[in-house]
Amino acid sequence: MTTASEIRIAPSILSADFARLGEEVAAIDAAGADYIHVDVMDGHYVPNLTIGPGVVKALRPHSRKVFDVHLMISPVDPFIEAFANAGADIITIHPEAAPHFHRTLQAIRALGKKAGVALNPGTPTDVLDHVMPLVDLVLVMTVNPGFGGQAYISLPEKIIDVRRRIATMGRAIDLEVDGGITPETAKEAIKAGANVLVAGTAVFKDGPARYADRIRAIRGG
Ligand code: DX5
Ligand code: ZN
Repeated sequence: MTTASEIRIAPSILSADFARLGEEVAAIDAAGADYIHVDVMDGHYVPNLTIGPGVVKALRPHSRKVFDVHLMISPVDPFIEAFANAGADIITIHPEAAPHFHRTLQAIRALGKKAGVALNPGTPTDVLDHVMPLVDLVLVMTVNPGFGGQAYISLPEKIIDVRRRIATMGRAIDLEVDGGITPETAKEAIKAGANVLVAGTAVFKDGPARYADRIRAIRGG
């Protein structure tokens, strides 16, 4: 199991104050965030609309931390380059939104970015079978994508399965869990093998004075 010092916390800015997004990114950076998780939604692949590459570009000067961009958009291929140019470090896609997702992963890496694959709660892990050599991050969704503030769907066997697949690759690949993460659910996900925890509501809900405490509590240290 991963120890607290190896756990990375990726606050989802979906739960931040959108009127003050640059300050919010700087505040979670200062509070100990490891990655800045950016949820991009298109009102088509998921039933919600959020932000595009212009906002990512505008936020980029507010933090030097890893920008972890989670694309819930279909089609996704026409937008990969724009997010790469905007300053994304990791670009994660959903296979359902990219019919030739092997090629999409190749395209992300060709732009010099890390490539992630997100698995919805109902998506089996065997979609990873032939793409692991192209993958730098596997995101196990513990809610159905579209909204913050949903209840955690417990999938420990799935996280264990992904951890086993990563172990066979012999290189660093992140196992990220996203949706309904709290200090309590984080424990279960970490025990199953997660090393990156996305949290929106649980980081932002009590305002900036609590960001550092919240991040520390989710990290478990
Ligand atoms: C859901 C998003 C998540 C979400 C997490 O589609 O991918 O990142 O914002 O929010 P919480 O932590 O509130 O479940
Ligand atoms: Zn997300």
